[in-house]
Amino acid sequence: MSRTLGDKMFKLSKLAMATVLCLNASVHMAALAAGPKAEVMHWWTSGGESAAVARFADAYRAAGGVWTDTAIAGGDQARSVAINRMVGGNPPTAAQFNISRQFQDVVEQGMLSNVDEIAIREGWDKTLPEPISSVIRIKGHYYAIPVNIHMPTWIWYSKAAFKKAGIDKEPVTPDELFAALDKLKAAGLIALAHGGQSWQETIVFMAMLANVGGKDLYLSVMRDRDPRAMNSEEFRKVLLSFKRLHGYVDAASPGRNWNDTTALLISGKAGIQIMGDWATGEFVAAKQVAGRDYGCIPGLGPKAPYLIQGDVFVFPKTSNVEALKAQKMLANVFVAPAVQIEFNKLKGSIPVRNDLDASQMNLCARRGLDIMKDKSRHAGIGEIYLTPDQNGALTDVLTAYWNTNMTVEKAQKNIVSALKN
Ligand code: GAL
Repeated sequence: MSRTLGDKMFKLSKLAMATVLCLNASVHMAALAAGPKAEVMHWWTSGGESAAVARFADAYRAAGGVWTDTAIAGGDQARSVAINRMVGGNPPTAAQFNISRQFQDVVEQGMLSNVDEIAIREGWDKTLPEPISSVIRIKGHYYAIPVNIHMPTWIWYSKAAFKKAGIDKEPVTPDELFAALDKLKAAGLIALAHGGQSWQETIVFMAMLANVGGKDLYLSVMRDRDPRAMNSEEFRKVLLSFKRLHGYVDAASPGRNWNDTTALLISGKAGIQIMGDWATGEFVAAKQVAGRDYGCIPGLGPKAPYLIQGDVFVFPKTSNVEALKAQKMLANVFVAPAVQIEFNKLKGSIPVRNDLDASQMNLCARRGLDIMKDKSRHAGIGEIYLTPDQNGALTDVLTAYWNTNMTVEKAQKNIVSALKN
């Protein structure tokens, strides 16, 4: 190789080396300048859910942090991975659970840090609805940061489907609900859009227990686990109403995801879905407007209990200084008023804080906020009262009753044994 070419190659390699060193240094500097790294584990994978959780990620990054998103489809799956990672000594910085007893065990095993500092600063003792504080405050300490309030048993309907079926008013009683379902079926539509997964069957059952049975029966069964209530004629009627709904679903229902089921209302192929207000996130993502393209009914009648649910983040215990900084920064982001509004608008839930301007929320969320002001309608979802094992046993009976020719008497008997102490 001639000297000049050799010289040129040598100069190039020096330039290349210098470039790599500068790049390396700038990456290293950026890493040094970047704030604490947080790995956040959750199950928000639908269009609406991922748009919503991105608001938390954006806010955390804006605060200088580095957000690593670990999204695992399916609540059951995500929660078991989170618990396994904690037990295995390699926990995420934060993990999503429901406002429920799902994380009680890991608290008792000393695997979660308490969040008393933010609870005191935010005044949770005074501001949180009882069903929420009853499960996140354990032995005098707070172990979870609630980021929203969801209600699982909203009745959604497509305005286009209602028009096609000649339904001109929202059903306000169970009888009117079944009459609307009959009209939708007669019009050749999917009357009840249902995702045939056990947790979704449990939601449909809770809707019938709340709306057909009423608040007293709902609490006697779910909170008190009273065998007399479960053996009563009223509870038999609830189960018969639940099973009657099965006659309105389509053949593609088994195994369908909840958000693919909401898509049937968005396209006008189906009339009604009974699902949590996270469905709003799918309507929002599809640019559909509440009151114009779809309707939302929180309960059948003015006394229907409002079943409080929602999501929390928990902080697995850690001695890692950066993770501790990250948890502190995450906590501030999760409760920040502006972030709360942005996240809940996209998530379809309502903010936990009751001091926010709700005018930016949509029609359905504003309806939910109004009802939440009436404490007489507050009740928790089943998982606020039931242990994960009890809830799993109940869910197994309900999905078997929904999918087989199990008699209502057998269902009552099996529910009593599923919920006994
Ligand atoms: C619920 C959760 C909601 C929503 C829903 C469907 O348990 O509270 O945020 O994501 O699952 O995935």
